[in-house]
Amino acid sequence: MCENTQTTAKKKVLSCIQPSGMLTLGNYLGALKNWVYMQEDFDCTFAVADLHAITVRQEPAKLRQQIYSTFATLLALGLDPEKSTLFIQSHVPEHAALSWLLSCYTQFGELSRMTQFKDKSAKHADNINVGLFSYPTLMAADILLYKPDLVPVGADQKQHLEIARDIAIRFNNLYGDVFTVPEPYIPKTVSRVRSLQDPSKKMSKSDENANSWVAILDDKDTIIRKFKRAVTDSDSVVRVGDDKPGITNLISIYSGVTGKSFEEIEREFDGKGYGEFKLAVGEAVADELAPIKANYDRIITDKKQLEELYKKGAAIAEKTAAKTYFKAMKKVGFVL
Ligand code: TRP
Repeated sequence: MCENTQTTAKKKVLSCIQPSGMLTLGNYLGALKNWVYMQEDFDCTFAVADLHAITVRQEPAKLRQQIYSTFATLLALGLDPEKSTLFIQSHVPEHAALSWLLSCYTQFGELSRMTQFKDKSAKHADNINVGLFSYPTLMAADILLYKPDLVPVGADQKQHLEIARDIAIRFNNLYGDVFTVPEPYIPKTVSRVRSLQDPSKKMSKSDENANSWVAILDDKDTIIRKFKRAVTDSDSVVRVGDDKPGITNLISIYSGVTGKSFEEIEREFDGKGYGEFKLAVGEAVADELAPIKANYDRIITDKKQLEELYKKGAAIAEKTAAKTYFKAMKKVGFVL
């Protein structure tokens, strides 16, 4: 095709985050910080995936608080409702509705192969519910409703994105061009943050050892204390290496917040001890997170403003979602 206005349109990006408790430095450096950058170059839609959260049992009051708090954190990070569409998944009923439709185009066998389903059903053996099993069809609906070109996901969600693509291709083959088949987007700038106490594990808020993870909303003293206690290794050289997982993790975190390359960091701390390095990492992280926490504390107290923003976001999202949903319904043969 020759040049037209389409070629200059921004690419569309969609991503969602579950409201499952405190967001961590891992969520921040692994995904959210990049969302803030992406809103400058792409047409972005970001949602709090609250429907996904009930695949494991939640306490109602706590879930409600976490949905508010996750939405407020997105705003506090600098996601701007004027630039991006920000909403809460359950406020746009087409997600659940399309998920049913897509579940009839998803094979039992392919869902059975999802490693997250296997892991989670082992972890919650007393509650292996159908939602936990069909979760990827809900995620496919989240994505396909908005026809994004790109979906930024971490390694643990790649398999789910793959299935969303397979479902889209299958549906399009049957009914014509209904869904856009999205590409995974793995930005160069993200860091995979490991536990500060056991770098063989991913940083996770469900870790029993609270020193192993940092929350985006932790205060400065807490952050510095946790970094001071971070595990290192027996030599004292600040350098990246497979034999130095603790130090490598800290270098990667420091790089994630400062934007410095690994080589620059190794040079900066050449001849300096771990104590000095850990303090520098703690301070850099605390300085980066402090304004986010200040924003959050302000935003979370203004429930009226929050409500206005999530309602507005849902109304914008639903316009696109409804269009795609009804097109799919019509193709399948429903009476509209
Ligand atoms: N399943 C994702 C997670 O647990 C969250 C999610 C839900 C998502 N819907 C999505 C991510 C759509 C990307 C696109 O992290």
